[in-house]
Parts: sequence; structure tokens; C-alpha cells
Amino acid sequence: MNSGTAGIETGRLSAAEAVEELARLAAEIAKHDDLYHRQDAPIIPDADYDALRRRNSEIEARFPDLVRDDSPSRRVGAPAAGGFGKIAHSRPMLSLENAFDDGDIAGFVDRVRRFLGLDGSEVMDFVAEPKIDGLSVSLRYENRSFVQGATRGDGAVGEDVTANLRTLDDIPDSLPEDAPDVVEVRGEVYMLHEEFAALNAERATENKRLEEENEKLAAEGKRTRRLIHLFANPRNAAAGSLRQIDSGITAGRRLHFFAYAAGEISEPVAATHWDWLGKLAAWGFQVNPEAGQCRGLEEMVAAYETIVAGRPDLAYDIDGVVYKVDRHDWQERLGTVSRAPRWAIARKFPAEQAETVLERITIQVGRTGALTPVANLSPVTVGGVVVSRATLHNQDEIQRKDIREGDAVVIQRAGDVIPQVVRVVAEKRPATSEPFTFPTRCPCELATPVVRPDGEVVVRCSGELACPHQQVARLRHFVSRDAFDIEGLGVKQIQEFFDDRLIRTPADIFDLRSGDGRSGASLTDRERWGEQKVRNLFAAIEARRTIHLDRFIYALGIRRIGTATARLLARHYEDLESWRGAMKAVAGERAECASVPKKPEEVGESYAELCHIDQIGIGVADDLAAFFGEPRNAAIVDELVERVTVEPVETAAADTPFAGRTVVFTGTLETMTRGEAKARAEALGAKVSSSVSARTDYVVAGPGAGAKEKKALELGVTVLSEAEWREMVGAQSG
Ligand code: IVH
Repeated sequence: MNSGTAGIETGRLSAAEAVEELARLAAEIAKHDDLYHRQDAPIIPDADYDALRRRNSEIEARFPDLVRDDSPSRRVGAPAAGGFGKIAHSRPMLSLENAFDDGDIAGFVDRVRRFLGLDGSEVMDFVAEPKIDGLSVSLRYENRSFVQGATRGDGAVGEDVTANLRTLDDIPDSLPEDAPDVVEVRGEVYMLHEEFAALNAERATENKRLEEENEKLAAEGKRTRRLIHLFANPRNAAAGSLRQIDSGITAGRRLHFFAYAAGEISEPVAATHWDWLGKLAAWGFQVNPEAGQCRGLEEMVAAYETIVAGRPDLAYDIDGVVYKVDRHDWQERLGTVSRAPRWAIARKFPAEQAETVLERITIQVGRTGALTPVANLSPVTVGGVVVSRATLHNQDEIQRKDIREGDAVVIQRAGDVIPQVVRVVAEKRPATSEPFTFPTRCPCELATPVVRPDGEVVVRCSGELACPHQQVARLRHFVSRDAFDIEGLGVKQIQEFFDDRLIRTPADIFDLRSGDGRSGASLTDRERWGEQKVRNLFAAIEARRTIHLDRFIYALGIRRIGTATARLLARHYEDLESWRGAMKAVAGERAECASVPKKPEEVGESYAELCHIDQIGIGVADDLAAFFGEPRNAAIVDELVERVTVEPVETAAADTPFAGRTVVFTGTLETMTRGEAKARAEALGAKVSSSVSARTDYVVAGPGAGAKEKKALELGVTVLSEAEWREMVGAQSG
């Protein structure tokens, strides 16, 4: 190919030259990809390869219209900056609530029965399936052709991995005639044990070759090449293989897929989950052969035992058993709560344990100042993952288990939870060991004394916002996945930027400049911060300048305000200004009420309104009051809102009579349980409250309604009978 354009600086290329150069680069990069990935015989150093890709991206950035279909930057529909395109899921990809023993399953069955208002004699069927330890993806078929595949991502938005998924044999390209026009099939991508072992063996061999080569390079005074990492477990290997920009690599990794759920579907194809699995199998998907129907608790427990017994013989990893209510109409009624369906639950396998040595106990300071002791361990593999740290929870836990530095300890790890120290192996205790003394001062440079309020187990640093450890912990929380979710600002980067005074409060993140941070230093001058990395970081920050109210509230890191409570608050107050105004009022009212109030109403109107939001109690209200009562917190929020746009909550169905209205249920409902009624109201955009005030829009009163109905009538609030309510929400009677 003509390479006349190869030497021209990207900034000087004319459009015609850019066309030529992009064609040359596409071919050149594809050639090297092939040599590297498929033939395992690269002919240019990594740095030169990176330079080719960078040149390609630079030209594309200058001439966006000239980006080729086969551009290296677009191989998986990826934006020019690298990475994958984003896909918003048409239905959220949910996670599952966890259960750990038979009792939890009994509780689940009970909850389902009560929610649906079934009596003890009604038969409930479930399906039990192995919980595959892979990564979930959603496959979209339009007019029976596979058109798009996405990873789960955060449940709302995933990554476009269509091209990679096309390389899986278990994913049909097309569906038969009887499939509806739009079908989304969801399931798990996983890797077999033997393929995982072979892949790691291959990588180990490659590393040996690299080591030999590096010896030569080092001898010649040249830069050596980085070794490749081995995958910790099949799940990581599957994830790493699916998230390859070059789908050729995915194809070489032989991934598999089990189908087990549905996303959007244009017309129903099955009345039960069991029939849906049958349909999936008929359409050519792999459905897990260990799945089975079970009737009632006893059969559910038996199904678990069977799957546990068969686990050692499976060729892939599973980490539990998923139970699903079989009837789809019941699934529909049960709906979801906090991103998990009420109609399914995952029973996790017991945690795996291992023995190791506790080398040192260090103290971590959380965002609210809590001092958490951490066990630093000799690295040990538990459940396929190398563990070198475990939480010790608090001072009492250390005393109770008499955990000391130097002890041999048994640790355990279950799912994604932080590893725990189960017990000390007493007979191995060194003679010289001494009990651990819990610090009386914060480990930060201010060494502020710690306090332990009466009756609490948690020891806190009294330095509040002045404590650098707390500041860093808050920043880490701020950028974490459920909060602002800023890619490229992880634990390490936050600490680094904090230490260099580039970022001290959340608002600083949005003031970062590539050339002049607070310190006047350029980000691009920093070690390990190349141009591309800086560009990616700014793109990630820009992408979060607009944020939903619930994430914003959660990100502030207020004590006890988790994602679920943040959502409740966002739903109730709907937009930032109403919420902020209310919180300031709450703080003011609470500050004026020195004695311990008996009733929220005694504190004030805003405080009472907050306490009466369903599932919010006095504890949470006091935490919010304390947060907004602290002027430095209020200032942090003020600075932040000047830099970001907070999107109000969209009421789910603006055209329903309940959108944005406050509803109170009282008395006994006869055709629907309280839980179902509440869920239904919320799905229609209503806010459900537990007490009647002038702001209540409807009171739904069943038999036995007393004081609340009376109060509603006094205040002129509309009181509905159950039948009227059902009619308004469009529920079929009977
Ligand atoms: S059902 C609406 N079934 O587990 C329910 N999930 O912890 C959607 N998983 O995100 C999930 N095997 O990645 C379901 N047989 C199975 C599963 C399964 C594995 C994963 C899935 C999900 C996670 C939740």
C-alpha cells in the first residue's frame, strides 16, 4: 500500500490525505492484531503498535466524518476514544436478593404468599436453577435476527459487545418463525474449567517467552515488555475475554452461554418460567440441564441438595441456586423492589474457608469517621480468589475472638462480600503474642482522639471533616459505582490526587483541568498519566456532570443513606431544590428542638414529613438533620450544585391519576395485600406515606380504618374505598 502519507504530522493532513492514511492504518493495525493475537508472533514492539492506534484516533478526532466502518477504533462499535459503546437496557437488568439457609427460603416463600394474598392451600410452583458464576448479558432479537448484545453494566446501561457475542456457538444468529418480533434473551456467559486452565497455561507459556525476550532486551539496554496477567478464576477469564475490543480474541476463547431470563418481549410466549425455558431450548439456546420445577418448600430444599451434590461434577462454576416463581402473571404482580425482583431469590453456597497468617492489624477510617480494624494476611486463595485482607469489623469483635497479630486464622469469603476472619487457630499461637490494643487516636496525621459513644460498638475519629482519612473516604464514596461512577477515578487515583491537593472536595473533581489543577501542575505531566488516559478521565467526568437525584443524594455519603433510602428521598422530593430546601428546614427544626421529642410533629412540619415517608424513620431523619446542620457539609453541597446538573425524578407514568400524589393505606384491604397495593401505587408514580396530613392526596381505607380515615375527612382529603382504588389503578377485580 502507498505509504506516502505515513510521515505527515496528523495536524497537517488534508482531508484527502487523511482518507488515505486511515485506510493504511486500518490495514496495518489489523495485520498486527492478527500477528499478535492469532499467530502469537508480533513483529513490532507494543509501543509502536500503540503509536499506530494513537495516530489513527488522532486523525479520526480531526476528521470524524472519515471514520471507516472497519476502523480499529470501531471494531466493537466503540467510540474513537477506545472502549465499548453504551447500550441502555429497554428493561433494567436486575440483580437478586441473597438467601443463605433453608430458613431464608421459607421466608421467601412466605413473603411471596403473603404479597399475593394466597391462602395456605394454594399450590405455588417454583423453578430451581443453578446460579452460573459468569457475567450476565442481554441479547436482542428483532424480526428474529440477533441485532444487539450488551453486558449488564450498572443494570440500566451496559456495554455493546454484539460483535463478540456473535462469536459464541451457544448464541443463535436467528430465531425460528414462532418467535415474536422483539425478543430479549438474558443469561450468563461463562467459561468451562478446562478452557480456563488451558487459557492460563497458554498465558504462562507466553510469559516464559516474554521473560526470555526481556532478558535479551535488558542486556541490549532496551525497554522490556510487560508480562500478561493470569486470570484468577473462570468468571474473570470470561469477562476479560468478552470485553475484548478485537472480537477475534473473543472467538479464540470459546465462551459459552446459558439462557435463563427475558427482557423486552413484544408478545408473551409462555405463561410460566418453565415453559419459557422450554421455548428457549426449542429456539436453539442452551438451557441449564440441572434446572427443575419444584412445588413448595420441601421440593425447593431437595432441589438445592441435588444441585449441591452434583456441583463437583459440573464443568463450570456455579455459586448458588436461583429460585423463581413459575407463573408469569404472579411474577408480574410481584414486581421488583430495589433493583431485585420479588419473585426470585438466590441461595448462595456456604462461604469457602482457608487458613493463613494474620500479619498485621491496620486501622481504616471510613467516610463517617468509623475506625475499622483490617487484618492484613499472608495471601491465600479462597474460592478461586487471592485474599490478602479481611475485615475485623470493630474493637469488640477483636476482643471477642481474641485476634492478635501473628495468629494463624481461618478466613472465609462468600460471593462478593468482604472476606472475614472466622476464628483463631489457638494451638498455633506464637508464645510471644500479645493482645491487640485498639488505638485511642485517629491514624491520620492530625491524630485526633477517638470517641466511642455509650452503647455503640463503633469507635469514631472526632476530627469530623478535618480528618484527611474521612475526606478521602468520602471522595471514594462519591465516585463509586452507585454514586457518580466516574471511570478512571479509583481508590488509587483519589488518594494520589488528594495527596497532591488536586482534589479536596467533590466539587474539585469538576474543576480539574488538564493543564492547571489547584497545584498548578498539569495532569499530563504526571507519571503514568498519558494523554489518552487524561482524555478518558475528562470524558468520564463530563459524562457525569448531569446526574439523577437519587445518585446525587447517595453520593453525599450521609450516614445510613444507602442507595435504597436515597431513592426513597428522590422519589418523595422529586427535584434537587425541594429536597435541599426540605433538608435545610429539617436541620433547622431539629436544632431548635433540644430535648428528645416524642413525636416527629413536635420537631416541626418538614421533619414530620420526612419521618412519614414510608420506610424512613427517626434515625435516618436525624442523620440527615445532622448532615445539613453542619455548615461545612452544606457548603460542600452548595459548591457541588454549582458544577453539576441534577435531573429531577421522572414520575413513572405522568398520565395516571396517582403520578406524584401522596397515598396512605389504612384498614384491611380485602382483595390485595398492603404490600401489593403499595407496590402498585408506586409503580403508578405515587408516594406512599404512613400518616395523613394536609399534603395527602388520597386515603385508601379498608374495613377497620380508624383515626387516619377520620383525620382525612377532617382535612378534606379524598377517601377511597378499596373498590374505588382498584378501579382507578385499573386492577381487574376478583
Ligand atoms: S435470574 C430478574 N438466573 O446472578 C432475574 N440470574 O445475583 C435475573 N445469575 O445478575 C437474574 N445464574 O448474572 C438468574 N439461573 C440464573 C442465574 C442468574 C446466574 C446471575 C445473574 C444476575 C446475578 C444476580
